[in-house]
Amino acid sequence: MDNKDTAFFHSWFRNYVRDFYSEDQKTQRNIQLKEEHTLRVCEEIVRLGKALKPNNNALRLELAETIALFHDIGRFEQFKAYGTFDDRVSENHATLGLNVLKATDILNRLTETERTIVYKAIEYHNVRKLPDYADEDENGNKNPDWLLYSKLLRDADKLDIWRVVTDYYTERPRHRNTALELELPDTPEYSRCFIDDILDTRVSNSRELKTFNDMKLLQLGWIFDINFTPTFRYIRQRRIIEKIIAALPDTEDIRKIQKHLNNYLEMAKHYQKK
Ligand SMILES: [Fe+2]
Repeated sequence: MDNKDTAFFHSWFRNYVRDFYSEDQKTQRNIQLKEEHTLRVCEEIVRLGKALKPNNNALRLELAETIALFHDIGRFEQFKAYGTFDDRVSENHATLGLNVLKATDILNRLTETERTIVYKAIEYHNVRKLPDYADEDENGNKNPDWLLYSKLLRDADKLDIWRVVTDYYTERPRHRNTALELELPDTPEYSRCFIDDILDTRVSNSRELKTFNDMKLLQLGWIFDINFTPTFRYIRQRRIIEKIIAALPDTEDIRKIQKHLNNYLEMAKHYQKK
């Protein structure tokens, strides 16, 4: 595949999304939110890919961009059918997305190997953690091709979600959007397990979410799933930790996790040379 294919996919995507535009303000806001998110994840993945290219010669930026462009394609059907982005009460949006890609056969201009990479990267983009078996393909070969792209997508996606949510925490008093809060209650409480997970350097399970604060803690813990050094740099530059912490109550627990997260980030700078 080449640049012409990415241009074709972009124009297909624009048309596809346009069909979901709505007179209803809430629907329109959320469809646009995902459309813009997708386009920014494309930028993030290309930026990250370029930074990594010198050490990963075989990395193909067009393929990475295609993966980013289609990774949330299931979100539009999801919102239309269920009025929510919460996979727990609707459907897994990665699976929905794969169904869309297969039903429309939009990837038919790719080779089979390329298609497998796109499908696999999308399939695993929203799992809590890449499974251990992901290090091998079905023939026992180490580091299957799609793994690098999957990691790239997971980093790029998180970078933009952090951007969306940190912007949202600032503008929330003026423009509430309950879809971004997964309709969770905005009470001063948070669940102990999210604090413990962060202190144990572990990504939390979204099934445990009980309050809006839990969601912010979950988002902080994603830092432990970051794969590449440049991503850690972006996290520092954009002050992601500070911005999410500012939206949480000022308690001893929160000060403790902030310290732990900053230490992790500092360590990652020195040890994660990729
Ligand atoms: Fe996404």
